[in-house]
Amino acid sequence: MNILKNTVEKLLLDAINACGYADAISSNMQIVKKSDRPDLSEYQSNIAMALAKSLHKNPREIANAIVQNVDTKDFTVSIDGPGFINIKLSNEFIASAVANLSFTPNILENPQKIIVDYGGPNVAKSLHVGHLRSSIIGESLKNLARYKGYTVVGDIHLGDWGLPMGLIIASIKESGKVPQTVAELNPIYPMASKRSKEDEAFMATAQEETKKLQNGDAENRTLWNNFKAISVNDIKHTLSLLNVEFELWNGESDANDDVNFLVEEFRKKGFSKHSEGAEVIDLKDYPMNNADVPPFIMVKSNGAVMYGMTDIATLYDRITRQKADMVWYVVDSRQSLHFHQVFSTAKITGIKGNTELEHLGFGSVLGLDGKPLKTRSGDNVSLMELINSALDMAQKKVNENEKTKQLSDTAKTDIARDVAISAIKFADLINPRTTDYIFNLDKFISFEGKTGPYILYTAVRIKSLLREANIDTTDAKIVLSNQSDRALAIKLNEFDDAIDRAFDARGIHILTQYIYELATIFNDFYHNCKIMPEKDVVLKKSWLKLSKKTLSAFETFANIIKINIPERM
Ligand code: ARG
Repeated sequence: MNILKNTVEKLLLDAINACGYADAISSNMQIVKKSDRPDLSEYQSNIAMALAKSLHKNPREIANAIVQNVDTKDFTVSIDGPGFINIKLSNEFIASAVANLSFTPNILENPQKIIVDYGGPNVAKSLHVGHLRSSIIGESLKNLARYKGYTVVGDIHLGDWGLPMGLIIASIKESGKVPQTVAELNPIYPMASKRSKEDEAFMATAQEETKKLQNGDAENRTLWNNFKAISVNDIKHTLSLLNVEFELWNGESDANDDVNFLVEEFRKKGFSKHSEGAEVIDLKDYPMNNADVPPFIMVKSNGAVMYGMTDIATLYDRITRQKADMVWYVVDSRQSLHFHQVFSTAKITGIKGNTELEHLGFGSVLGLDGKPLKTRSGDNVSLMELINSALDMAQKKVNENEKTKQLSDTAKTDIARDVAISAIKFADLINPRTTDYIFNLDKFISFEGKTGPYILYTAVRIKSLLREANIDTTDAKIVLSNQSDRALAIKLNEFDDAIDRAFDARGIHILTQYIYELATIFNDFYHNCKIMPEKDVVLKKSWLKLSKKTLSAFETFANIIKINIPERM
Protein backbone atom coordinates (compact mmCIF):
# COMPACT_ATOMS: atom_id res chain seq x y z
CA MET A 1 0.00 0.00 0.00
CA ASN A 2 1.20 3.48 -0.82
CA ILE A 3 0.32 5.58 2.22
CA LEU A 4 0.68 8.84 0.32
CA LYS A 5 -1.75 7.93 -2.41
CA ASN A 6 -4.20 6.29 -0.02
CA THR A 7 -4.28 9.29 2.29
CA VAL A 8 -4.85 11.69 -0.59
CA GLU A 9 -7.62 9.47 -1.91
CA LYS A 10 -9.31 9.26 1.46
CA LEU A 11 -9.18 13.01 2.14
CA LEU A 12 -10.48 13.83 -1.33
CA LEU A 13 -13.35 11.41 -0.86
CA ASP A 14 -14.15 13.09 2.45
CA ALA A 15 -14.29 16.42 0.61
CA ILE A 16 -16.48 14.94 -2.14
CA ASN A 17 -18.85 13.64 0.52
CA ALA A 18 -18.87 16.99 2.29
CA CYS A 19 -19.96 18.58 -1.01
CA GLY A 20 -22.87 16.15 -1.18
CA TYR A 21 -21.55 14.41 -4.31
CA ALA A 22 -21.17 10.96 -2.77
CA ASP A 23 -24.06 9.43 -4.70
CA ALA A 24 -22.52 10.37 -8.02
CA ILE A 25 -19.36 8.39 -7.26
CA SER A 26 -19.16 4.89 -8.66
CA SER A 27 -16.60 2.27 -7.77
CA ASN A 28 -14.96 2.25 -11.20
CA MET A 29 -14.07 5.95 -10.98
CA GLN A 30 -10.45 6.77 -10.34
CA ILE A 31 -10.23 9.39 -7.62
CA VAL A 32 -6.52 10.17 -7.84
CA LYS A 33 -3.73 9.22 -10.18
CA LYS A 34 -0.10 10.11 -10.59
CA SER A 35 0.24 13.58 -11.98
CA ASP A 36 0.76 14.15 -15.70
CA ARG A 37 2.88 17.14 -14.66
CA PRO A 38 5.18 15.81 -11.92
CA ASP A 39 7.02 19.13 -11.97
CA LEU A 40 3.90 20.81 -10.56
CA SER A 41 2.34 18.20 -8.32
CA GLU A 42 2.61 14.55 -7.34
CA TYR A 43 -1.00 13.55 -7.88
CA GLN A 44 -3.97 14.83 -9.76
CA SER A 45 -7.67 14.17 -9.69
CA ASN A 46 -9.86 14.28 -12.76
CA ILE A 47 -12.93 13.43 -10.74
CA ALA A 48 -14.65 16.77 -11.41
CA MET A 49 -14.80 15.91 -15.11
CA ALA A 50 -16.10 12.45 -14.34
CA LEU A 51 -18.87 13.85 -12.12
CA ALA A 52 -19.90 16.72 -14.38
CA LYS A 53 -22.33 14.72 -16.45
CA SER A 54 -24.39 13.14 -13.70
CA LEU A 55 -24.32 16.26 -11.54
CA HIS A 56 -25.22 18.52 -14.48
CA LYS A 57 -22.61 20.99 -13.37
CA ASN A 58 -19.61 22.65 -14.85
CA PRO A 59 -16.52 20.61 -13.84
CA ARG A 60 -14.66 23.68 -12.72
CA GLU A 61 -17.46 24.50 -10.33
CA ILE A 62 -17.33 20.95 -8.95
CA ALA A 63 -13.55 21.13 -8.58
CA ASN A 64 -13.90 24.43 -6.72
CA ALA A 65 -16.37 22.97 -4.29
CA ILE A 66 -14.22 19.92 -3.63
CA VAL A 67 -11.08 21.98 -3.12
CA GLN A 68 -12.85 24.25 -0.63
CA ASN A 69 -13.80 21.23 1.41
CA VAL A 70 -10.36 19.67 1.54
CA ASP A 71 -9.15 20.00 5.08
CA THR A 72 -5.56 18.92 5.60
CA LYS A 73 -2.01 20.04 6.13
CA ASP A 74 -0.69 17.01 4.24
CA PHE A 75 -1.04 18.58 0.81
CA THR A 76 -2.17 21.66 -1.04
CA VAL A 77 -4.69 21.68 -3.86
CA SER A 78 -5.07 23.90 -6.90
CA ILE A 79 -7.25 23.84 -9.99
CA ASP A 80 -6.09 23.84 -13.58
CA GLY A 81 -7.76 23.97 -16.98
CA PRO A 82 -11.32 22.67 -17.19
CA GLY A 83 -11.23 21.31 -13.62
CA PHE A 84 -8.11 19.23 -12.96
CA ILE A 85 -7.25 19.19 -9.29
CA ASN A 86 -3.51 19.25 -8.65
CA ILE A 87 -2.30 17.78 -5.40
CA LYS A 88 1.06 18.82 -4.05
CA LEU A 89 2.25 16.93 -1.01
CA SER A 90 3.88 18.68 1.91
CA ASN A 91 7.46 17.77 2.81
CA GLU A 92 6.40 16.79 6.32
CA PHE A 93 3.77 14.42 5.03
CA ILE A 94 6.19 12.66 2.67
CA ALA A 95 8.87 12.53 5.35
CA SER A 96 6.61 10.95 7.95
CA ALA A 97 5.42 8.33 5.46
CA VAL A 98 8.93 7.38 4.40
CA ALA A 99 10.05 7.15 8.01
CA ASN A 100 7.51 4.38 8.53
CA LEU A 101 8.61 2.23 5.59
CA SER A 102 10.08 -1.04 6.80
CA PHE A 103 10.66 -3.26 3.74
CA THR A 104 9.77 -6.33 5.74
CA PRO A 105 7.69 -9.24 4.46
CA ASN A 106 3.92 -9.15 4.98
CA ILE A 107 2.42 -11.39 7.57
CA LEU A 108 -0.91 -12.92 6.61
CA GLU A 109 -3.07 -14.43 9.30
CA ASN A 110 -4.23 -17.47 7.36
CA PRO A 111 -1.87 -17.58 4.43
CA GLN A 112 -2.96 -19.49 1.38
CA LYS A 113 -0.57 -22.07 0.03
CA ILE A 114 0.91 -21.68 -3.43
CA ILE A 115 2.88 -24.40 -5.20
CA VAL A 116 5.11 -23.04 -7.92
CA ASP A 117 6.05 -25.57 -10.59
CA TYR A 118 9.13 -24.29 -12.36
CA GLY A 119 12.44 -25.40 -13.79
CA GLY A 120 11.03 -28.64 -15.20
CA PRO A 121 14.28 -30.09 -16.57
CA ASN A 122 14.45 -33.60 -17.94
CA VAL A 123 16.79 -36.17 -16.46
CA ALA A 124 19.83 -37.15 -18.53
CA LYS A 125 19.77 -33.94 -20.53
CA SER A 126 21.87 -31.03 -19.36
CA LEU A 127 20.08 -27.77 -18.77
CA HIS A 128 19.91 -25.53 -21.81
CA VAL A 129 18.89 -21.95 -22.43
CA GLY A 130 15.21 -22.99 -22.42
CA HIS A 131 15.51 -23.66 -18.70
CA LEU A 132 16.89 -20.22 -17.96
CA ARG A 133 13.64 -18.28 -17.95
CA SER A 134 11.59 -20.83 -16.07
CA SER A 135 14.22 -20.97 -13.33
CA ILE A 136 14.74 -17.22 -13.04
CA ILE A 137 11.09 -16.20 -13.28
CA GLY A 138 9.83 -19.08 -11.14
CA GLU A 139 12.31 -18.41 -8.36
CA SER A 140 11.44 -14.69 -8.35
CA LEU A 141 7.69 -15.23 -8.35
CA LYS A 142 8.07 -17.73 -5.54
CA ASN A 143 9.95 -15.23 -3.39
CA LEU A 144 7.61 -12.40 -4.31
CA ALA A 145 4.65 -14.47 -3.13
CA ARG A 146 6.56 -15.22 0.08
CA TYR A 147 7.21 -11.54 0.61
CA LYS A 148 3.46 -10.99 0.24
CA GLY A 149 2.97 -13.45 3.10
CA TYR A 150 1.86 -16.61 1.29
CA THR A 151 3.13 -20.06 2.12
CA VAL A 152 5.01 -21.01 -0.98
CA VAL A 153 6.63 -24.23 -2.11
CA GLY A 154 8.74 -24.60 -5.23
CA ASP A 155 8.67 -27.95 -7.03
CA ILE A 156 11.10 -28.66 -9.86
CA HIS A 157 8.88 -31.35 -11.38
CA LEU A 158 11.66 -33.35 -13.01
CA GLY A 159 11.00 -35.07 -16.29
CA ASP A 160 12.15 -38.49 -15.09
CA TRP A 161 9.59 -40.90 -16.52
CA GLY A 162 8.33 -42.30 -19.77
CA LEU A 163 9.99 -43.41 -22.98
CA PRO A 164 13.17 -41.29 -22.67
CA MET A 165 14.09 -43.36 -19.59
CA GLY A 166 13.49 -46.61 -21.48
CA LEU A 167 15.63 -45.39 -24.38
CA ILE A 168 18.51 -44.70 -22.00
CA ILE A 169 18.14 -48.03 -20.22
CA ALA A 170 18.05 -49.94 -23.51
CA SER A 171 21.22 -48.16 -24.66
CA ILE A 172 23.07 -48.83 -21.42
CA LYS A 173 22.14 -52.50 -21.45
CA GLU A 174 23.21 -52.86 -25.06
CA SER A 175 26.61 -51.21 -24.58
CA GLY A 176 27.17 -52.78 -21.18
CA LYS A 177 28.66 -49.47 -20.03
CA VAL A 178 27.00 -47.92 -17.02
CA PRO A 179 27.58 -44.14 -17.11
CA GLN A 180 29.45 -42.74 -14.10
CA THR A 181 29.55 -39.04 -14.98
CA VAL A 182 27.36 -36.48 -16.75
CA ALA A 183 29.87 -36.44 -19.58
CA GLU A 184 29.22 -40.15 -20.08
CA LEU A 185 25.48 -39.88 -19.50
CA ASN A 186 24.46 -36.90 -21.56
CA PRO A 187 25.25 -38.16 -25.08
CA ILE A 188 23.18 -41.33 -24.54
CA TYR A 189 19.67 -39.93 -24.87
CA PRO A 190 20.11 -37.84 -28.05
CA MET A 191 21.73 -40.82 -29.80
CA ALA A 192 19.08 -43.26 -28.62
CA SER A 193 16.26 -40.92 -29.52
CA LYS A 194 17.61 -40.49 -33.04
CA ARG A 195 18.14 -44.20 -33.46
CA SER A 196 14.65 -45.09 -32.23
CA LYS A 197 13.19 -43.19 -35.16
CA GLU A 198 14.95 -45.42 -37.68
CA ASP A 199 15.38 -48.69 -35.80
CA GLU A 200 12.04 -50.32 -35.01
CA ALA A 201 13.50 -53.21 -33.05
CA PHE A 202 15.42 -50.79 -30.82
CA MET A 203 12.25 -48.76 -30.30
CA ALA A 204 10.37 -51.90 -29.28
CA THR A 205 13.12 -52.77 -26.78
CA ALA A 206 13.03 -49.25 -25.35
CA GLN A 207 9.26 -49.46 -24.92
CA GLU A 208 9.65 -52.79 -23.20
CA GLU A 209 12.30 -51.36 -20.85
CA THR A 210 10.03 -48.38 -20.11
CA LYS A 211 7.21 -50.67 -19.13
CA LYS A 212 9.51 -52.76 -16.93
CA LEU A 213 10.80 -49.64 -15.20
CA GLN A 214 7.29 -48.38 -14.57
CA ASN A 215 6.23 -51.76 -13.19
CA GLY A 216 9.10 -51.75 -10.72
CA ASP A 217 11.65 -54.09 -12.34
CA ALA A 218 14.62 -54.12 -9.95
CA GLU A 219 17.44 -53.97 -12.47
CA ASN A 220 15.86 -51.11 -14.39
CA ARG A 221 15.11 -49.22 -11.21
CA THR A 222 18.74 -49.49 -10.13
CA LEU A 223 20.05 -48.25 -13.46
CA TRP A 224 17.50 -45.46 -13.48
CA ASN A 225 18.24 -44.41 -9.88
CA ASN A 226 21.94 -44.25 -10.73
CA PHE A 227 21.72 -42.08 -13.80
CA LYS A 228 19.01 -39.94 -12.24
CA ALA A 229 21.34 -39.18 -9.32
CA ILE A 230 24.15 -38.17 -11.68
CA SER A 231 21.80 -35.91 -13.58
CA VAL A 232 20.22 -34.33 -10.51
CA ASN A 233 23.66 -33.49 -9.14
CA ASP A 234 24.53 -31.76 -12.37
CA ILE A 235 21.23 -29.86 -12.44
CA LYS A 236 21.70 -28.80 -8.82
CA HIS A 237 25.14 -27.46 -9.55
CA THR A 238 24.00 -25.36 -12.51
CA LEU A 239 20.97 -24.02 -10.68
CA SER A 240 22.98 -23.17 -7.59
CA LEU A 241 25.07 -20.80 -9.70
CA LEU A 242 21.82 -18.99 -10.48
CA ASN A 243 20.79 -19.06 -6.78
CA VAL A 244 17.76 -21.13 -7.69
CA GLU A 245 16.57 -23.53 -4.98
CA PHE A 246 13.69 -25.96 -4.74
CA GLU A 247 11.83 -27.20 -1.70
CA LEU A 248 10.60 -30.23 -3.61
CA TRP A 249 12.58 -32.36 -6.03
CA ASN A 250 9.59 -34.40 -7.13
CA GLY A 251 9.41 -35.82 -10.59
CA GLU A 252 6.90 -37.19 -13.02
CA SER A 253 7.83 -40.63 -11.65
CA ASP A 254 6.37 -39.70 -8.25
CA ALA A 255 2.97 -39.43 -9.90
CA ASN A 256 3.06 -43.03 -11.12
CA ASP A 257 0.78 -44.59 -8.48
CA ASP A 258 -1.73 -41.77 -8.76
CA VAL A 259 -1.67 -42.07 -12.54
CA ASN A 260 -2.71 -45.71 -12.29
CA PHE A 261 -5.38 -44.93 -9.73
CA LEU A 262 -6.82 -42.01 -11.69
CA VAL A 263 -6.85 -43.84 -15.01
CA GLU A 264 -9.06 -46.45 -13.33
CA GLU A 265 -11.23 -43.76 -11.75
CA PHE A 266 -11.74 -41.88 -15.01
CA ARG A 267 -12.70 -45.12 -16.72
CA LYS A 268 -15.12 -46.07 -13.94
CA LYS A 269 -16.73 -42.66 -13.81
CA GLY A 270 -17.12 -42.59 -17.58
CA PHE A 271 -14.97 -39.54 -18.26
CA SER A 272 -12.80 -41.34 -20.80
CA LYS A 273 -13.70 -43.02 -24.04
CA HIS A 274 -11.93 -45.06 -26.71
CA SER A 275 -10.80 -43.21 -29.78
CA GLU A 276 -8.52 -44.62 -32.47
CA GLY A 277 -7.10 -47.15 -30.04
CA ALA A 278 -6.28 -44.55 -27.40
CA GLU A 279 -8.32 -43.58 -24.34
CA VAL A 280 -9.19 -39.91 -24.27
CA ILE A 281 -11.32 -37.33 -22.51
CA ASP A 282 -13.13 -35.44 -25.19
CA LEU A 283 -12.80 -31.86 -24.00
CA LYS A 284 -14.96 -30.36 -26.71
CA ASP A 285 -17.97 -32.12 -25.17
CA TYR A 286 -17.80 -29.73 -22.22
CA PRO A 287 -19.12 -26.18 -22.20
CA MET A 288 -15.85 -24.54 -21.10
CA ASN A 289 -14.19 -25.55 -24.36
CA ASN A 290 -14.77 -24.72 -27.95
CA ALA A 291 -15.07 -27.27 -30.72
CA ASP A 292 -11.47 -27.22 -31.82
CA VAL A 293 -9.85 -28.17 -28.52
CA PRO A 294 -8.12 -31.51 -29.12
CA PRO A 295 -9.00 -34.39 -26.78
CA PHE A 296 -6.97 -34.98 -23.65
CA ILE A 297 -5.09 -38.23 -24.22
CA MET A 298 -5.17 -40.33 -21.09
CA VAL A 299 -3.54 -43.53 -22.37
CA LYS A 300 -1.99 -43.98 -25.81
CA SER A 301 -2.81 -46.88 -28.10
CA ASN A 302 0.35 -48.74 -27.01
CA GLY A 303 -0.69 -48.39 -23.38
CA ALA A 304 1.79 -45.63 -22.53
CA VAL A 305 0.66 -42.93 -20.15
CA MET A 306 0.98 -39.41 -21.54
CA TYR A 307 2.53 -36.15 -20.26
CA GLY A 308 -0.92 -34.66 -19.57
CA MET A 309 -1.88 -37.54 -17.33
CA THR A 310 1.30 -37.18 -15.24
CA ASP A 311 0.35 -33.53 -14.75
CA ILE A 312 -3.16 -34.48 -13.68
CA ALA A 313 -1.83 -37.02 -11.19
CA THR A 314 0.73 -34.54 -9.86
CA LEU A 315 -2.01 -31.97 -9.45
CA TYR A 316 -4.12 -34.50 -7.61
CA ASP A 317 -1.30 -34.94 -5.10
CA ARG A 318 -0.78 -31.20 -4.80
CA ILE A 319 -4.44 -30.61 -4.04
CA THR A 320 -5.44 -33.61 -1.94
CA ARG A 321 -2.25 -34.18 0.08
CA GLN A 322 -0.31 -30.96 -0.13
CA LYS A 323 -3.45 -28.78 0.20
CA ALA A 324 -2.47 -26.19 -2.38
CA ASP A 325 -4.81 -23.22 -2.77
CA MET A 326 -3.05 -22.15 -5.95
CA VAL A 327 -0.72 -23.86 -8.38
CA TRP A 328 1.41 -21.75 -10.68
CA TYR A 329 3.07 -23.34 -13.69
CA VAL A 330 6.02 -21.28 -14.88
CA VAL A 331 6.43 -23.02 -18.21
CA ASP A 332 7.15 -21.87 -21.77
CA SER A 333 4.16 -20.17 -23.42
CA ARG A 334 4.35 -22.74 -26.19
CA GLN A 335 2.85 -25.24 -23.76
CA SER A 336 -0.34 -23.22 -23.37
CA LEU A 337 -2.52 -25.79 -25.13
CA HIS A 338 -1.14 -28.52 -22.87
CA PHE A 339 -2.09 -26.52 -19.77
CA HIS A 340 -5.46 -25.62 -21.19
CA GLN A 341 -6.12 -29.33 -21.62
CA VAL A 342 -4.80 -30.22 -18.16
CA PHE A 343 -6.82 -27.49 -16.44
CA SER A 344 -9.99 -28.44 -18.33
CA THR A 345 -9.53 -32.08 -17.45
CA ALA A 346 -8.97 -31.14 -13.82
CA LYS A 347 -12.25 -29.21 -13.81
CA ILE A 348 -14.25 -31.83 -15.67
CA THR A 349 -13.11 -34.67 -13.42
CA GLY A 350 -13.59 -32.63 -10.25
CA ILE A 351 -9.94 -32.84 -9.22
CA LYS A 352 -9.49 -29.09 -9.32
CA GLY A 353 -11.97 -28.20 -6.58
CA ASN A 354 -11.41 -24.62 -5.44
CA THR A 355 -7.73 -24.58 -6.26
CA GLU A 356 -6.70 -21.86 -8.66
CA LEU A 357 -4.55 -22.98 -11.55
CA GLU A 358 -2.42 -20.58 -13.54
CA HIS A 359 -0.12 -21.20 -16.44
CA LEU A 360 2.41 -18.38 -16.22
CA GLY A 361 3.95 -18.70 -19.66
CA PHE A 362 7.05 -16.95 -20.90
CA GLY A 363 8.60 -16.00 -24.22
CA SER A 364 11.85 -17.18 -25.80
CA VAL A 365 15.45 -16.14 -25.49
CA LEU A 366 16.67 -14.98 -28.90
CA GLY A 367 20.13 -14.68 -30.40
CA LEU A 368 21.57 -11.42 -31.75
CA ASP A 369 19.97 -12.28 -35.11
CA GLY A 370 16.53 -12.19 -33.51
CA LYS A 371 15.99 -15.93 -33.96
CA PRO A 372 15.74 -18.44 -31.08
CA LEU A 373 19.19 -18.78 -29.52
CA LYS A 374 20.97 -21.86 -30.93
CA THR A 375 24.53 -23.07 -31.41
CA ARG A 376 26.06 -22.96 -34.92
CA SER A 377 25.02 -26.55 -35.47
CA GLY A 378 21.46 -25.71 -34.50
CA ASP A 379 21.47 -27.27 -31.03
CA ASN A 380 20.18 -25.66 -27.88
CA VAL A 381 22.81 -23.56 -26.10
CA SER A 382 23.83 -25.21 -22.86
CA LEU A 383 22.94 -23.20 -19.79
CA MET A 384 26.31 -23.92 -18.20
CA GLU A 385 28.14 -22.52 -21.25
CA LEU A 386 25.96 -19.45 -21.17
CA ILE A 387 26.63 -18.88 -17.47
CA ASN A 388 30.35 -19.49 -17.99
CA SER A 389 30.61 -16.90 -20.73
CA ALA A 390 28.89 -14.37 -18.44
CA LEU A 391 31.29 -15.29 -15.62
CA ASP A 392 34.31 -14.83 -17.92
CA MET A 393 33.13 -11.47 -19.15
CA ALA A 394 32.37 -10.25 -15.63
CA GLN A 395 35.72 -11.48 -14.38
CA LYS A 396 37.53 -9.38 -17.01
CA LYS A 397 35.57 -6.30 -15.97
CA VAL A 398 36.25 -6.83 -12.29
CA ASN A 399 39.96 -7.44 -12.90
CA GLU A 400 40.22 -4.15 -14.80
CA ASN A 401 38.21 -2.16 -12.24
CA GLU A 402 40.39 0.32 -10.32
CA LYS A 403 38.19 0.12 -7.23
CA THR A 404 38.71 -3.60 -6.73
CA LYS A 405 42.29 -3.95 -7.97
CA GLN A 406 43.76 -4.40 -4.51
CA LEU A 407 41.35 -7.22 -3.56
CA SER A 408 42.39 -10.87 -3.43
CA ASP A 409 41.70 -13.15 -6.38
CA THR A 410 38.96 -15.03 -4.56
CA ALA A 411 37.25 -11.78 -3.60
CA LYS A 412 37.37 -10.69 -7.24
CA THR A 413 35.93 -13.99 -8.40
CA ASP A 414 33.06 -13.64 -5.92
CA ILE A 415 32.28 -10.14 -7.19
CA ALA A 416 32.46 -11.36 -10.78
CA ARG A 417 29.93 -14.01 -9.98
CA ASP A 418 27.55 -11.48 -8.38
CA VAL A 419 27.93 -9.22 -11.40
CA ALA A 420 27.37 -12.00 -13.95
CA ILE A 421 24.31 -13.46 -12.23
CA SER A 422 22.74 -10.06 -11.63
CA ALA A 423 23.33 -9.25 -15.30
CA ILE A 424 21.61 -12.39 -16.58
CA LYS A 425 18.72 -12.21 -14.15
CA PHE A 426 17.99 -8.52 -14.44
CA ALA A 427 18.08 -8.65 -18.25
CA ASP A 428 15.52 -11.43 -18.20
CA LEU A 429 13.24 -9.96 -15.57
CA ILE A 430 13.11 -6.42 -16.96
CA ASN A 431 11.03 -7.84 -19.82
CA PRO A 432 7.37 -8.68 -19.46
CA ARG A 433 7.16 -12.43 -18.93
CA THR A 434 5.46 -13.23 -22.21
CA THR A 435 7.74 -11.28 -24.54
CA ASP A 436 10.85 -12.65 -26.23
CA TYR A 437 14.17 -10.92 -25.69
CA ILE A 438 17.56 -10.84 -27.33
CA PHE A 439 20.42 -12.27 -25.33
CA ASN A 440 23.18 -9.69 -25.54
CA LEU A 441 25.77 -10.26 -22.83
CA ASP A 442 27.81 -7.16 -23.68
CA LYS A 443 24.80 -5.02 -23.01
CA PHE A 444 23.62 -6.98 -19.96
CA ILE A 445 26.98 -6.76 -18.17
CA SER A 446 27.50 -3.04 -18.66
CA PHE A 447 27.71 -1.01 -15.43
CA GLU A 448 25.62 1.69 -17.06
CA GLY A 449 22.11 1.60 -18.42
CA LYS A 450 19.24 -0.64 -17.48
CA THR A 451 21.29 -3.52 -16.15
CA GLY A 452 21.79 -5.69 -13.10
CA PRO A 453 25.36 -4.44 -12.54
CA TYR A 454 24.03 -0.86 -12.51
CA ILE A 455 21.70 -1.81 -9.65
CA LEU A 456 24.54 -3.56 -7.80
CA TYR A 457 26.80 -0.59 -8.40
CA THR A 458 24.21 1.78 -6.93
CA ALA A 459 23.59 -0.44 -3.90
CA VAL A 460 27.35 -0.82 -3.34
CA ARG A 461 27.71 2.94 -3.54
CA ILE A 462 25.25 3.22 -0.65
CA LYS A 463 27.06 0.55 1.34
CA SER A 464 30.36 2.39 1.08
CA LEU A 465 28.70 5.72 1.85
CA LEU A 466 27.23 4.28 5.05
CA ARG A 467 30.56 2.71 5.97
CA GLU A 468 32.41 5.93 5.42
CA ALA A 469 29.90 8.07 7.34
CA ASN A 470 29.67 5.55 10.18
CA ILE A 471 26.82 7.42 11.90
CA ASP A 472 23.90 5.81 13.69
CA THR A 473 20.70 7.13 12.10
CA THR A 474 18.19 5.03 14.05
CA ASP A 475 16.64 8.03 15.75
CA ALA A 476 17.34 10.49 12.97
CA LYS A 477 14.42 12.55 11.69
CA ILE A 478 13.78 12.73 7.98
CA VAL A 479 13.70 16.31 6.74
CA LEU A 480 13.25 17.10 3.07
CA SER A 481 15.11 20.08 1.76
CA ASN A 482 15.11 20.06 -2.04
CA GLN A 483 13.75 18.43 -5.20
CA SER A 484 16.21 15.51 -5.06
CA ASP A 485 15.63 14.25 -1.55
CA ARG A 486 11.92 14.82 -2.05
CA ALA A 487 11.88 12.80 -5.27
CA LEU A 488 13.76 9.96 -3.59
CA ALA A 489 11.38 9.92 -0.62
CA ILE A 490 8.36 9.85 -2.91
CA LYS A 491 9.81 7.02 -4.97
CA LEU A 492 10.56 4.98 -1.85
CA ASN A 493 6.93 5.31 -0.86
CA GLU A 494 5.95 3.60 -4.12
CA PHE A 495 7.84 0.42 -3.26
CA ASP A 496 4.85 -1.47 -1.84
CA ASP A 497 2.78 -0.45 -4.83
CA ALA A 498 5.34 -1.93 -7.18
CA ILE A 499 5.31 -5.14 -5.13
CA ASP A 500 1.52 -5.34 -5.25
CA ARG A 501 1.29 -4.60 -8.95
CA ALA A 502 4.00 -7.14 -9.73
CA PHE A 503 2.25 -9.77 -7.64
CA ASP A 504 -1.18 -9.11 -9.14
CA ALA A 505 0.20 -9.32 -12.67
CA ARG A 506 2.58 -12.19 -11.80
CA GLY A 507 5.02 -9.86 -13.51
CA ILE A 508 8.42 -9.29 -11.91
CA HIS A 509 9.21 -6.78 -14.67
CA ILE A 510 7.03 -4.24 -12.84
CA LEU A 511 9.18 -4.48 -9.74
CA THR A 512 12.40 -4.61 -11.78
CA GLN A 513 11.46 -1.47 -13.68
CA TYR A 514 10.63 0.25 -10.40
CA ILE A 515 14.03 -0.70 -8.95
CA TYR A 516 15.78 0.68 -12.00
CA GLU A 517 13.91 3.98 -11.62
CA LEU A 518 14.73 4.05 -7.92
CA ALA A 519 18.43 3.61 -8.77
CA THR A 520 18.44 6.52 -11.19
CA ILE A 521 16.59 8.74 -8.71
CA PHE A 522 19.02 7.75 -5.98
CA ASN A 523 22.03 8.54 -8.17
CA ASP A 524 20.56 11.98 -8.95
CA PHE A 525 20.08 12.57 -5.27
CA TYR A 526 23.63 11.40 -4.56
CA HIS A 527 25.06 13.89 -7.05
CA ASN A 528 22.91 16.80 -5.94
CA CYS A 529 23.07 16.34 -2.20
CA LYS A 530 26.68 16.31 -1.07
CA ILE A 531 26.21 14.10 1.94
CA MET A 532 29.69 13.67 3.41
CA PRO A 533 30.70 17.37 3.47
CA GLU A 534 27.26 18.51 4.75
CA LYS A 535 27.66 20.70 7.89
CA ASP A 536 24.01 20.62 8.98
CA VAL A 537 24.00 17.44 11.08
CA VAL A 538 20.22 17.04 11.00
CA LEU A 539 20.20 17.19 7.22
CA LYS A 540 23.19 14.92 6.88
CA LYS A 541 21.58 12.29 9.09
CA SER A 542 18.34 12.58 7.20
CA TRP A 543 20.12 11.99 3.90
CA LEU A 544 21.96 9.03 5.34
CA LYS A 545 18.71 7.60 6.59
CA LEU A 546 17.12 8.00 3.16
CA SER A 547 20.14 6.27 1.66
CA LYS A 548 19.77 3.43 4.11
CA LYS A 549 16.10 3.02 3.23
CA THR A 550 17.05 2.92 -0.43
CA LEU A 551 19.55 0.18 0.32
CA SER A 552 16.80 -1.76 2.11
CA ALA A 553 14.65 -1.52 -1.00
CA PHE A 554 17.50 -2.89 -3.13
CA GLU A 555 18.18 -5.65 -0.64
CA THR A 556 14.55 -6.68 -0.59
CA PHE A 557 14.57 -6.81 -4.38
CA ALA A 558 17.83 -8.78 -4.34
CA ASN A 559 16.24 -11.28 -1.95
CA ILE A 560 13.26 -11.70 -4.23
CA ILE A 561 15.13 -12.27 -7.47
CA LYS A 562 18.06 -13.89 -5.60
CA ILE A 563 21.07 -11.87 -6.52
CA ASN A 564 23.85 -10.94 -4.14
CA ILE A 565 24.93 -7.37 -3.47
CA PRO A 566 28.67 -7.40 -2.75
CA GLU A 567 30.34 -5.13 -0.17
CA ARG A 568 32.42 -3.42 -2.85
CA MET A 569 32.79 -3.43 -6.58
N1 ARG B 1 9.74 -31.43 -18.47
C1 ARG B 1 8.84 -30.65 -19.26
C2 ARG B 1 9.48 -30.29 -20.60
O1 ARG B 1 10.67 -30.42 -20.76
C3 ARG B 1 8.44 -29.38 -18.58
C4 ARG B 1 7.65 -29.58 -17.32
C5 ARG B 1 6.81 -28.41 -16.99
N2 ARG B 1 5.94 -28.62 -15.85
C6 ARG B 1 4.84 -29.33 -15.89
N3 ARG B 1 4.14 -29.51 -14.78
N4 ARG B 1 4.36 -29.84 -17.01
O2 ARG B 1 8.76 -29.86 -21.49
